[in-house]
Amino acid sequence: MIFAAKLTEVPFWGKKLITIDGVEVVLTNDRGKIFACENECPHQGSPMLAGIVKEGVISCPRHGWHYDLTNGASTDHPGYTLKTYQVELVGDDIMIELES
Ligand code: FES
Repeated sequence: MIFAAKLTEVPFWGKKLITIDGVEVVLTNDRGKIFACENECPHQGSPMLAGIVKEGVISCPRHGWHYDLTNGASTDHPGYTLKTYQVELVGDDIMIELES
């Protein structure tokens, strides 16, 4: 697990873009639950940082495709998967597993 950010840096309903080892990762706080996913939409590469998060699902800002933040699977376009990363909270530290 790698340190990603402090919990206070990702407010309720908020998002934060971080880069670790050249990999852009979007952290989201969906009503207190932290998720981590890649920034590039698997459809045509739009930045997911601008996506809307609701009930554990992020929608791409470009064409509106939806991805389940728990496993990255598209909920409306089977076969497309947004890369997601395992998250663990250690006190106030958000830790992620880049290899997941
Ligand atoms: S680029 Fe994300 S849905 Fe098309």
